[in-house]
Amino acid sequence: MAGFTCSLLVLLQMGTAVGHAAAPVSLAKSYEDWWAYKESIQGIFVPGPAFWGLVNAAWNLCAVGKRQSPIDINTSQVVFDPFLPPLRLSLGSKTVSGTLCNTGRHVVFLPESQRAVNMSGGPLLYTHRLEEVRLHFGGEDGAGSEHLLNKHGSPSVQVANNSNPFLGRLLNRETTTRISFKGDSTFLQDLVLEQLFPDTFSFVTYQGSMTAPPCYETVTWIVIDQALNVTSMQMHSLRLLSQHRALHVFQSMSDNVRPVQPLFQRGLRGTLDYRRPGRRCTGARYRLQVDGPKPPKASG
Ligand SMILES: *[C@@H]1O[C@H](CO)[C@@H](O)[C@H](O)[C@H]1NC(C)=O
Ligand SMILES: *[C@@H]1O[C@H](CO)[C@@H](O)[C@H](O)[C@H]1NC(C)=O
Ligand SMILES: *[C@@H]1O[C@H](CO)[C@@H](O)[C@H](O)[C@H]1NC(C)=O
Ligand SMILES: *[C@@H]1O[C@H](CO)[C@@H](O)[C@H](O)[C@H]1NC(C)=O
Repeated sequence: MAGFTCSLLVLLQMGTAVGHAAAPVSLAKSYEDWWAYKESIQGIFVPGPAFWGLVNAAWNLCAVGKRQSPIDINTSQVVFDPFLPPLRLSLGSKTVSGTLCNTGRHVVFLPESQRAVNMSGGPLLYTHRLEEVRLHFGGEDGAGSEHLLNKHGSPSVQVANNSNPFLGRLLNRETTTRISFKGDSTFLQDLVLEQLFPDTFSFVTYQGSMTAPPCYETVTWIVIDQALNVTSMQMHSLRLLSQHRALHVFQSMSDNVRPVQPLFQRGLRGTLDYRRPGRRCTGARYRLQVDGPKPPKASG
């Protein structure tokens, strides 16, 4: 029986970025695009997160939804689910190629062939195809993650002396200078996607929403509770990316983060028993399962 293929966004929410310098911004060309992470920019009102659900009827879930994201994950409320299977990546080829873009709001990596990578396992009922890898980041280290873990920022990256190899391909001087401005893009070849994941990890999953308008409540979040390493130089290059097109005033893209939303009645499930401190993520169920051609260097 053929499974559905749904799209999947892998979101990396990085702790980092620059204090937002106030700068003029060109008004969005279309209503559909009329939202921002910061309310008003030099006196021009652009709806920030608190207004997203009020300015456009199609986005009203942003204001009234009861299953919104991101959230602060309180690990003492996570129910340990020993039956959650490991996450599984199915690769069409050893490596993926694609386009790295500055959308003005995020840095995104779009794989060249949308059929190249599928993901399943964990809480996912169907096979999902990788749609994009999207980066959120802060103006300072320690901020920039949308999801929080016990009220702390960024469970997903930490500043270190070494870099996660996948992020190292995305974020280096050569690539980031080619996407300085909104609309810029550059083609990257032969990335090894499984290198993005930690060797072993546990995750927390819950039902939530997109974290930007229209805030549809159709997302199964899988939040990996293990940090990836990035260098302070990589964070610095990200903070130098502009939200605006070339020849417009520079305004850092950083702090492209929606504030946390109430959990309401939702449950959180996890692959680790957080109530038993000292439990380690070891064993096959804490490793990413990879099908298809073997990577040049086996992960883990
Ligand atoms: C991904 O899933 C689709 C639909 O099930 C399938 O056609 C495609 O071959 C899969 N790709 C890989 C790499 O497994
Ligand atoms: C997590 O939840 C527990 C129990 O509901 C509560 O006592 C604790 O203060 C919460 N911790 C945080 C960091 O919110
Ligand atoms: C990340 O950096 C820390 C500290 O610099 C180091 O101990 C750790 O081994 C690094 N992790 C990986 C996966 O390289
Ligand atoms: C990075 O390496 C330098 C020199 O080896 C060391 O002094 C510094 O503490 C290291 N920083 C981190 C975050 O590991």
